[in-house]
Amino acid sequence: MEKKPVKITETILRDAHQSLCATRMRIAQMVPQLEALDNVGYNALEAWGGATFDTCLRFLGEDPWERLDTLKAHLKKTPIQMLLRGQNLLGYNHYNDDVVRAFVRKASEHGVRVFRIFDALNDITNLTTSIDEALKCKEHPHVQGCLVYTVSPFHTNETFVELAKKLEEMGCHSVCIKDMSGLLKPYVAEDLVKKLKAAVKIPIELHTHYTSGFGSMTYMKAVEAGVDIIDCALAPFANDTSQPCTETMIETFADTPYDTGLSRKALIPISKHFAEVKAELIKEFNLKGYFDVNPNVLDFQIPGGMLSNLVNQLKEQGMEDKYQDLLDEMPRVRADVGYPPLVTPSSQIVGTMATFNVMMGQRYKMVPKEFKDLARGKFGHTPKAVEHDFLHSIGIKDEDIIVDISKEDAKENTVAQFRDELAKEGYANPTDEDVLSFALFPEIAKEFFVAKGRM
Ligand code: CO
Repeated sequence: MEKKPVKITETILRDAHQSLCATRMRIAQMVPQLEALDNVGYNALEAWGGATFDTCLRFLGEDPWERLDTLKAHLKKTPIQMLLRGQNLLGYNHYNDDVVRAFVRKASEHGVRVFRIFDALNDITNLTTSIDEALKCKEHPHVQGCLVYTVSPFHTNETFVELAKKLEEMGCHSVCIKDMSGLLKPYVAEDLVKKLKAAVKIPIELHTHYTSGFGSMTYMKAVEAGVDIIDCALAPFANDTSQPCTETMIETFADTPYDTGLSRKALIPISKHFAEVKAELIKEFNLKGYFDVNPNVLDFQIPGGMLSNLVNQLKEQGMEDKYQDLLDEMPRVRADVGYPPLVTPSSQIVGTMATFNVMMGQRYKMVPKEFKDLARGKFGHTPKAVEHDFLHSIGIKDEDIIVDISKEDAKENTVAQFRDELAKEGYANPTDEDVLSFALFPEIAKEFFVAKGRM
């Protein structure tokens, strides 16, 4: 049989600890193993994204741009991958094209070599600017477009194939099936990968979470169907709400046509280190660190990264007993708002709305602005148009409904406007990086600048 080695993208530096340890891993806990990770032979090391950026500023007192510089200094061979939310960048709003382009350029300058770009609603309009800018970066990063995977009456393997074709036409170098909640079942994955391979020429990568227990089986069927790259996490941070285990996958495909060529033995000291890091994180931040398999995620569809935070939040508010009510309310709210895939920011928006509905004991008694924005099209087109009766019932008038999202984005602040705003707050000559941090997370960035003596 023809050899077709499958490649592995390692998520230990981003998604793995985001999913199991609330994104709390520090750069100091990564550095001791970066050289070893660089020598493994991974396709890429995912290391940067929205939650890592946010957590650096908010909890860890780390400058996310400096983290990227440190990673770049140690990773000489393996591309650094970041996860970018299209027109949302790493924040929760939509940004002006000017800010999107500036951010992508800076990230590339600081060492991002794989841009994985997605939009929560799979609305191509929201991907256009960031993909275009990433393709123009002088460092020539790899640009990957995402199919944000979900299950609904409005999503089929065929609709995902159509989206993949568009991403290829836009110039993407590869396509990622981003299954953030672990909803992709093994035989569905086989069918989807076969259809994608028949429809597009660029490589296909698969990213799943183990939440529902399908992970390893899904990867096996996808690999047999021709998927080119799979996302895995080293053993201490694998499975549960994280990715399938790197070591397991290496051994699964060893001595088969799909042999990764990677050595499980070489990973033993690296995993030993990260097992210690995990124990430290669980202790320091009072985390649970593991999650039971939950096939019912097929109904509530909360992504791995969010589930760990949600459990902590409910615990803090003494509302642990409402957990199941909340999970039951999620799919109802999602249907009301046009079946968006649940991933940041739509997952947070739907999650918050569902939480309010459960806490108030009455549905839509209190409706947050972000939920109204999602319903009226401020984040792009929802897979199914939201019913007008529903829009009216939560206080949205016909003239509030947004048809052309790019016109709305143009009204947002430019980089120069954010710079002026920061100057007015008392930070006179900020670096471009600090202006961008401020644009994304205004309040916590300011607190961070003050703590660091920059303003
Ligand atoms: Co993920």
